[in-house]
Amino acid sequence: MNRPSIFITTAIDYTNAPPHLGHAYEKILADCYARHYRQRGKAVFFLTGVDQHGQKVQQAASRAGIPPASYASQITELFRQLWQKLDISYDGWAETTHPTHKKVVQNILSQLLNQNDLYKAEHSGFYSVRQEQFLTDKERNEKGEFGPEWGEVIELVEENWYFRLSNYRQWLASFLDNHPDCVFPPFRSVELRNAINKTSGDLCISRPKSRLSWGIEFPFDNSFVTYVWFDALINYISFAGFRSDDPSEVSSFWSRWPALHIIGKDILVPAHGIYWLTMLKAIGFSDDQMPSFLVHGYINIAGEKMSKTLGNVVDPFRLSENYGAGALRYYLMAECICGQDMDFSTERLTLRYNSELANGLGNLLNRTANMVRRYRNGTLIRPPSPTPQANSLISQAIQTWQSVAASMDAFKPQEAIASIFSLVDSANKFAEAESPWKLAKDPTQSHRLDSALWAMALTSLHAASLLSPFLPNETQKIAAQLQSPLLTYSNHSSSQQDCFQFAEPQPVFPRIETNTTS
Ligand code: MSP
Repeated sequence: MNRPSIFITTAIDYTNAPPHLGHAYEKILADCYARHYRQRGKAVFFLTGVDQHGQKVQQAASRAGIPPASYASQITELFRQLWQKLDISYDGWAETTHPTHKKVVQNILSQLLNQNDLYKAEHSGFYSVRQEQFLTDKERNEKGEFGPEWGEVIELVEENWYFRLSNYRQWLASFLDNHPDCVFPPFRSVELRNAINKTSGDLCISRPKSRLSWGIEFPFDNSFVTYVWFDALINYISFAGFRSDDPSEVSSFWSRWPALHIIGKDILVPAHGIYWLTMLKAIGFSDDQMPSFLVHGYINIAGEKMSKTLGNVVDPFRLSENYGAGALRYYLMAECICGQDMDFSTERLTLRYNSELANGLGNLLNRTANMVRRYRNGTLIRPPSPTPQANSLISQAIQTWQSVAASMDAFKPQEAIASIFSLVDSANKFAEAESPWKLAKDPTQSHRLDSALWAMALTSLHAASLLSPFLPNETQKIAAQLQSPLLTYSNHSSSQQDCFQFAEPQPVFPRIETNTTS
């Protein structure tokens, strides 16, 4: 990541139901990346938001007996509250009912019509009245029938607008052949490439208002609204200044673009990998302007997908209330391997938090603070030439910055956290080996005591700074206790820190008692 600016987006969440833990994982992952790159001095623009249109929202609203706009805005509010609770530091917020977005979507539709990328055609097929969707052979059961879950199935002839996706299929295949790295992890790139070979035909991008009214109207045909994906994907550019009336917004857009899209495994094929890339190509984006994708796995519960039907949906509000937002952020980032599924467990969350944060970093910080207060009245002055043991710990701290950056660039946040904890571990072992409590008894060991305490305090500051993208709130408390600002990539190795003044020790990571409920 050598670019000076980085544009990170997440999927925008459907407003047909309240947020669950899967939504939270994705936003936490994106937030840790946004904060990490800010710490590296990059100009980060982090965009997230909500997907407010479409059939799912219209149906949920009708079940709730309220208009779709009110329903979508109630759910939107829950997402906003959750992101605040979880310290998600987004710079841009996308709501697809926003007039600016609507204008960009309509503008793109008109452009595509003018360049002959859209046409109107009739489609006849089987249609489920209950689910309000056309059915294909994929929906047939083992007996070759459409099962009772589809309700009444009728044959319907419908006229719609189509996007000439087939004109871009060849381009997409060769683009991916030449840029397989645009999708991480690599096996997802292969999956997408294989899917392109199997796709054919064009994409239906309209819905007749007679069956779906909750969407963006076609600017040149007002009896249709835009298919929700053709609307939602455009958020990535419409909320970042693309085609804004203000030229400075447009130039900011181009200074940010292309984006790193952080999305779940279910929406790479076909939505992002096929629809979005071909849409961008049709709009006029060059190969160099194509985005890249970090495709994460699913957070499951006891091996099962979270679902309302199974009744195993985990409420992130409740989790952060019971365990704290920091514990939740930390556990998800430390334990989940990017790109793979993970089983969520409150036992693992508790175990990792207690052993690494409460006993690891918390212990290092407490013992350092207590000893500095006891032996040095709370003030520690940088020793002019620390002992070789102290210097070796300090060098490890400085080197950890590079390992963290390399792991983050390789989409391995769990490895970044592991290297920070190997530093904390070294510092706790150093404390045992140096035993400052013994050195304090011997006035001739005063220099060694200063060196040991200095190395422990400095390492606590380095570890807290490196952890700050993952634990923004708790690490600020550590900085307050050390009365020293957190370090960044530009000042960590040449820090002019020459004194630590310890404030009254406060436990930053109180242990989680195992009887806490989820
Ligand atoms: N609205 C579309 C995305 C449009 S992007 C232009 C959508 N919304 S969603 O609410 O269903 O999902 C939002 C994100 O959450 C997706 O990236 C999806 O993969 C992710 N997750 C949904 N369930 C998840 C888990 N159980 N675990 C991890 N992420 C999951 O798709």
